[in-house]
Amino acid sequence: MSLLKAEGLRAYYNSPIGQVKAVEDISLSVEEDDFIGIAGESGCGKSTLANVLMMNIRPPLKLYGGRLFLNGEEISDKSRDYVKEKFWGTVISIVPQAALNSLMPTKRTKEFIIDVVQAHKKISEKEIIEMAKNKFVELGLSPSVLDLYPHELSGGMRQRVIIVASTILNPKVLIADEPTSALDVSTQKQVLKMMLDLQRKQSIRSTILITHDIAIQRQVCNKLIVMYAGRIVEYGNVDDVLYNPKHPYTKGLINSVLTPEPEVRRRGLMALFIPGEPPNLVNPPPGCSFHPRCPFAMPRCKSETPGLTYSGDRAVACWLYIL
Ligand SMILES: Nc1ncnc2c1ncn2[C@@H]1O[C@H](COP(=O)(O)OP(=O)(O)OP(=O)(O)O)[C@@H](O)[C@H]1O
Ligand code: SF4
Ligand SMILES: [Mg+2]
Repeated sequence: MSLLKAEGLRAYYNSPIGQVKAVEDISLSVEEDDFIGIAGESGCGKSTLANVLMMNIRPPLKLYGGRLFLNGEEISDKSRDYVKEKFWGTVISIVPQAALNSLMPTKRTKEFIIDVVQAHKKISEKEIIEMAKNKFVELGLSPSVLDLYPHELSGGMRQRVIIVASTILNPKVLIADEPTSALDVSTQKQVLKMMLDLQRKQSIRSTILITHDIAIQRQVCNKLIVMYAGRIVEYGNVDDVLYNPKHPYTKGLINSVLTPEPEVRRRGLMALFIPGEPPNLVNPPPGCSFHPRCPFAMPRCKSETPGLTYSGDRAVACWLYIL
């Protein structure tokens, strides 16, 4: 049984300028021991998908289609409140994008952790502090951090505190949305190591790591999902996708990481390799939404949308690969 399974999810923001189609026909499954990367340019829908996967759906975002199963139970037909009460923190947890900003300067680490845990489960403060201490020791961190304020912690330690708070109840699935993007390279390594440790020690059973930084996903992930304009365009084992990319967009994305050009690397974009901008998701191009930028576009690409098509455990959504 998959820990998390999505079938044809569609979720749009209802905005004054029209519907923003941020999650379009997304299917995926997360199994025990998976460490799945989700990559793609800014605005392609990664964070929206993260929220949809745990039914954290509030206006202006609305679920328009598809089904979602968590730990074998369908949750796409349940309310956000039901899923929050029954699953958040204990079965699925998220470290949201820019979570570092959520630390209140006036609260000590232990108070922050107590708040996070009590939002999910009625446990006494004493018990939570005990659990936090044990978790810190298990992960090789000093429990004295629990008595410190955010300004007394390094950026990397703050991020680790947030991850500990999100995983203290041993959720099966952890979604980490850009957990390292605000950190320097050596600190990034500490945070990634801790996430791997959590999974090795089975505090969590699977991780979804969202980042535009494919180099990071190459270090820690076993599978990779590449998103473009709200859709999955390529999926497979991380080495297969990175060393033998098939979708033209994935090829561009990887070239941008491998290039020595600092500007391209910094922006994480492939502007020098694939000209043009990501599409407007209110009115995405018909057919394959990548066709205006694709050097291989064929006439059918402009009118027919390629579905994600599997060959073994590899999937690509591109007419070049669909017979
Ligand atoms: N509250 C909102 N109302 C309308 N549109 C939104 C809202 N939040 C996000 N969007 C739009 O939805 C699309 C997907 O956004 P999302 O934040 O999921 O992308 P992302 O891939 O996480 O980007 P980034 O890499 O910058 O974090 C974007 O076009 C974004 O502008
Ligand atoms: S379907 Fe067509 S336009 Fe889209 S990526 Fe493939 S070749 Fe390019
Ligand atoms: Mg995001």
